[in-house]
Amino acid sequence: MKKYLLFNFKTNPSNLIQLEQLLKIFQRYSSKITEKFKVVLFPPDIYLTETKKSLKTKFILGAQNVFWFNKIQATGEISPLMLKSLGVQYIIIGHSERRRYLEETDEMINWKIKACLNNKLIPVLCVGEQEKGKNELIPDFRTKQEIFEQLNYAFRGIKINELTNLMIVYEPVWAIGKGIFQDLKASQAIIALIRFWLSRRFGEEIAKHIPILYGGSVNHQNIKEFLSSKDINGVLIGSASTNKTELNKIFKQLTTNN
Ligand code: PGA
Repeated sequence: MKKYLLFNFKTNPSNLIQLEQLLKIFQRYSSKITEKFKVVLFPPDIYLTETKKSLKTKFILGAQNVFWFNKIQATGEISPLMLKSLGVQYIIIGHSERRRYLEETDEMINWKIKACLNNKLIPVLCVGEQEKGKNELIPDFRTKQEIFEQLNYAFRGIKINELTNLMIVYEPVWAIGKGIFQDLKASQAIIALIRFWLSRRFGEEIAKHIPILYGGSVNHQNIKEFLSSKDINGVLIGSASTNKTELNKIFKQLTTNN
């Protein structure tokens, strides 16, 4: 299986000129990078059309959020059908920044996952603990409890046969946007825990095929280490995805054989 590289632009860049400059970097490395990786770009919704137009490549389009209904009138929201019509395939759900700043609840996250599955969009569910655990090799009780609780809520009422396509990102909240990241061993241990939860809930066969990625201050210095692990199916890159210097360095790392 090719490893996934998810680029989450968050609330960047500030204007279309900067977007074009950024997309040029993606364009420059596109053929080399898509040979080795499955790449999904998550620009802000207002840049989806422009991003699609500029990138005539194998890059896949994702969105950072979705509303859970197609028909209900909800000012300011974007429906699953609207995103699909622009060619969006993946949707980030449950990102800690949305939980924090927009008070997105576990219930809303569950509705959004259901909306994605019903509309054949692939949910990219983010889960992670608030504070760094003490033991690297064995996730501590609090971490386990937080992550299991997020998973329990997120998949409430979802049956095995409804689970067509799905991705999970393990994102320790304390690492997101902070320039500090989880150790590889600890990430592997927590990802194993998530896979264990999935196998108990949906059976081993399904759990085996659900990609689980790492996210949280991924940069050109640590990306190769995370990607080298057979237990980690890719990475979600946040701040570094709209920092031109860092982005160039990431692509150089991944496209040269060093
Ligand atoms: P970061 O963000 O790479 O800036 O830590 C990761 C994310 O988008 O969750």
